[in-house]
Amino acid sequence: MTETPISRLSINADRLMSRLAALSEVGDTGDGGVCRLALTDADRDGRDLVVSWMRDLGLRVDIDGIGNVTGTWPADSTEDPVMTGSHIDTVRTGGRYDGNYGVLAGLEVIETVIESGIEIGRPLAVAFFTDEEGARFAPDMLGSLVYVGGLPLEVALDTVAIDGAILGDDLERIGYRGPLPCPARPPAAFVEVHVEQGPVLEAEGFTIGAVTGVQGILWRELTITGQSNHAGTTPMSMRHDAGFAAASLASTVRSIATEIGGAQVGTVGRIDLQPNLVNVVAAKATMTVDLRNTDAELLAEAERRLDAAIAELAHTEGVKITSRELARFAPVDFDPAVIDLVEHVAIARSCSVRRLPSGAGHDAQMLARVCPTAMVFVPSVGGISHNPAEHTSPTDLEAGANVLLDVMLNLATEHTT
Ligand code: GLV
Ligand code: MN
Ligand code: MN
Repeated sequence: MTETPISRLSINADRLMSRLAALSEVGDTGDGGVCRLALTDADRDGRDLVVSWMRDLGLRVDIDGIGNVTGTWPADSTEDPVMTGSHIDTVRTGGRYDGNYGVLAGLEVIETVIESGIEIGRPLAVAFFTDEEGARFAPDMLGSLVYVGGLPLEVALDTVAIDGAILGDDLERIGYRGPLPCPARPPAAFVEVHVEQGPVLEAEGFTIGAVTGVQGILWRELTITGQSNHAGTTPMSMRHDAGFAAASLASTVRSIATEIGGAQVGTVGRIDLQPNLVNVVAAKATMTVDLRNTDAELLAEAERRLDAAIAELAHTEGVKITSRELARFAPVDFDPAVIDLVEHVAIARSCSVRRLPSGAGHDAQMLARVCPTAMVFVPSVGGISHNPAEHTSPTDLEAGANVLLDVMLNLATEHTT
């Protein structure tokens, strides 16, 4: 292994923790969690706070047409930066660290470098991307997808939210439809630090994860139309029950995942029934399916099984089932040299490190399309995420931010081996 230079710098952990605490007060749900669904007032307030910190540091703040925000230092630089970043939108029942940690660790890295007065080869940038979660506007990673040219801006602006809002209208409303073009000019490299959101690092006693890639993902919204009828008088053999069909498909999704096994996961996270009454056979069900696998072939197999189950159930229950694709992203492999760099920096900093793939989607998987990219993970206590109880120890948050610091400095000085 070639020796990887580590800096003599260290981030200021108290400053990082106090910014994380301040940001978590915006959209505080009162149970330790945060709700800042994309492009809501709470998202705007969170954005305003992070932008104020960027401006306080003297970064150049750029906002693009989909509302991605980048802070660059030095402010007058024209060279392609080494970029970090993540997202500050959350799911409705979000924790404090998902995404927010990556953005604020990036800001902390840049503040540390500015304070040190050291010379670096390339500018540094920290970004937060619009609507990473996809919980309000699908697909997930929408802002970074537009940033890299994977979705035309005009199409993204027309996206309809689960509450009927139009993305472009909300972006204007919160004042974050910026002038910079999408797709953007790619950075020189991208590295994102994030909480693992799974159990592996904690269970195996590692402090740092060198993330090898992100699994493929498929999201569908299924609409099942049956016949509403009286729960007491309608014989079982004469029902066209949208509620039963939804429950049956939820069970099938679980079976598909367990039968394929390995990395295959499957989730039905949302079911809405109409009219949703105790004594009425449901007329309509709307439900989501989330299938993920690191192996593209096996993910395709899971999708085939889902489609076969839908067709069979529509026939046997006499219901109509329509399917709308909300997200489809192939598995992504990160850049081998940047993964090596993460690993080498962690070892040089005396942190235990293992390689692992990401189960969650991340903005880095979109940036990987346009520049050398990798990620740094830190442990999630109990593997809990998308839950107010999400937690990572301050020591691990500090270790991850210091690894990010040295990875960025190495990339900025091009010592990538
Ligand atoms: C997004 O963060 C996802 O993995 O669902
Ligand atoms: Mn995230
Ligand atoms: Mn998330």
